[in-house]
Amino acid sequence: MTFSVAGRNNCAVVAGEPYVYARTDEGAFVMRARCPHRGGPLHLAGLSPERNRLVCPWHERKTSLTRLRQEIPAVRRGDIVTAVFPGQPDAAVGFGHRPLSVDLAG
Ligand code: FES
Repeated sequence: MTFSVAGRNNCAVVAGEPYVYARTDEGAFVMRARCPHRGGPLHLAGLSPERNRLVCPWHERKTSLTRLRQEIPAVRRGDIVTAVFPGQPDAAVGFGHRPLSVDLAG
């Protein structure tokens, strides 16, 4: 599935799960925009002081950037990114916008 790396349609919603393209000091990757803990806005998360983990803004649960980079296979070409999402190939798909934190906006 292809979507925008930034701007109006920077979020792909697959089977109800939102994903965004994030750019950090440690590289770029597609990630879930919703925290698996209680659904917090991971797209607004900041990096830990060591800059190797993402810190959820709701309850400060930390997720390794290494793990996030390996979760969703994706390739960027220009302003679009193509990703392979988990789940059924015929899952419902939508697009929308999620603002990104400074740490995730590159
Ligand atoms: S919702 Fe993210 S840590 Fe609780």
